[in-house]
Amino acid sequence: MYSPRWALLLAGLLLLLLLPSSLSWDLNEPLNGVHFQRVKAHTLPTPDRPSPRFSRLRNLRAHGPHSQKHHGRHHHHHHGRGGGGHTTAVSHLARRLGRFDGTKWQNVTGVGDYSTQYAIQCAWDGLGVWLLFDTGSADTWASQSGFRCEDPAGAPHTQEACGFGAPLVQGFAHGQIDDVHFYLQYGSGEQVSGPMGFSDIACGGLSVFEQQVGLANSTYWHGNNVTVGILGLAYPSITSAYYGAVGDEAPWNAVTYPSFFTTAITQGSIDPVFSVSIVRNSSEGILVWGGLPETGWQNRPNASTDLIIANLIDQSETAWKYSFYTIIVDALKWDQTTVTAKHPYIVDTGTTMMYVPPPLAESVADAFQPRAVYLYQWGAYFAPCDAIPPRLAVVISGVEFWINPSDLIYRNLVDPLTGYCAVAVASGGSGPYILGDVFLQNVVAVFDVGAAQMRFYAK
Ligand SMILES: *[C@@H]1O[C@H](CO)[C@@H](O)[C@H](O)[C@H]1NC(C)=O
Ligand SMILES: *[C@@H]1O[C@H](CO)[C@@H](O)[C@H](O)[C@H]1NC(C)=O
Ligand SMILES: *[C@@H]1O[C@H](CO)[C@@H](O)[C@H](O)[C@H]1NC(C)=O
Ligand SMILES: *[C@@H]1O[C@H](CO)[C@@H](O)[C@H](O)[C@H]1NC(C)=O
Ligand SMILES: *[C@@H]1O[C@H](CO)[C@@H](O)[C@H](O)[C@H]1NC(C)=O
Repeated sequence: MYSPRWALLLAGLLLLLLLPSSLSWDLNEPLNGVHFQRVKAHTLPTPDRPSPRFSRLRNLRAHGPHSQKHHGRHHHHHHGRGGGGHTTAVSHLARRLGRFDGTKWQNVTGVGDYSTQYAIQCAWDGLGVWLLFDTGSADTWASQSGFRCEDPAGAPHTQEACGFGAPLVQGFAHGQIDDVHFYLQYGSGEQVSGPMGFSDIACGGLSVFEQQVGLANSTYWHGNNVTVGILGLAYPSITSAYYGAVGDEAPWNAVTYPSFFTTAITQGSIDPVFSVSIVRNSSEGILVWGGLPETGWQNRPNASTDLIIANLIDQSETAWKYSFYTIIVDALKWDQTTVTAKHPYIVDTGTTMMYVPPPLAESVADAFQPRAVYLYQWGAYFAPCDAIPPRLAVVISGVEFWINPSDLIYRNLVDPLTGYCAVAVASGGSGPYILGDVFLQNVVAVFDVGAAQMRFYAK
């Protein structure tokens, strides 16, 4: 007689047989050719306590198919995973490598409103602006009034075509830096560049004085009509400033500088942590500076784990290049199955789904009742919309973080041919693997930048 439990056990055993290397993976071994190392800690862990300084996250959804007016690959990237989240680690990858080559992801996220971007309100030299909050990049920039909006070929268009919000920024309150500019380019062809200087940036009660920032005076961009730029929360090692003229962005011209949160720490205005709590189905999320939210995490299951980073010295650019805030996940657990297979995962608010090693994605799909199937044309798993998702937990430092089963299937992301609904756990191929919103909305995530640690509290 068919027993789903036996089927699962068998699947688990198969995994054991098929994945010997991944089971034994540890930090000292390369994974798919990429080496990882611990991020260096600069302080002891900051004790977790509430902080009164926070920014409300405004959830911006990418548009559904009916609002898609543009055609062509570039735009598809935009509507792809992370939706315009050119700003997230993943979309950097997507854009740089073309791994999510538009033909896959644009479809999945284009069908429903499932791309996520989070915006926060900041004062830029006293001017109120919306910025995309991005843990996957390190530069903070805004578009400059009078900027040149271009198409991929470099031809000028109206500023509206670039889709920035208002108001735009005029200049730098503390002066421009001579001979240094910033330049960011994405695989999609989207790009921004312009002068750098120093401005005062304040977000949710955290004020940073004389932060080095960029003003985009030339860009090819697909904006959301709300945000005017990006608040980059990653480490300074991936800032994109260059000496010399625009167009001279050789690696030897690159010059790193302290990113927004690094400057905040240096200026002593804040404990070196921030935390993020996003809420399913709503824009109630908050980003808390220097601590945790007032409530909703005390006395809950919690875990802490070291941050690791891809060590790409002497390596060609890989999909892990933007792997900031990467942690090791010990195991995935669903129903009665536990697959102990340590893997590095990026923690990314800009990614909607969870991306796991392919055999795990396959096994989780099998655990839906009835089972989910891989639809090649979408690059994702789909199940009958009334399928019962498994109870799935992500195990971090031995602690199980359970995902609300209803989060595992997107009931309004329907494949027109089969009538099936998209499943929130997808294959991440050879990496990177990602803990996206489907996981993050079930926890409070603490980014202890000083101690190079992440902590999670079950919600
Ligand atoms: C997915 O998108 C690609 C390219 O845009 C298209 O060729 C393909 O037909 C789409 N698949 C579906 C199921 O719409
Ligand atoms: C944009 O800024 C760069 C760097 O300061 C400068 O070289 C360039 O002339 C500016 N371009 C425009 C269109 O203002
Ligand atoms: C931004 O506004 C323009 C009209 O000015 C509109 O055509 C476009 O679809 C809007 N884009 C988004 C992402 O809302
Ligand atoms: C999310 O919103 C949809 C429709 O807006 C609703 O059907 C669903 O029950 C909500 N889910 C949760 C978990 O609140
Ligand atoms: C974290 O979990 C431990 C048990 O592992 C518990 O004793 C402690 O109270 C939790 N911390 C908080 C702040 O809830």
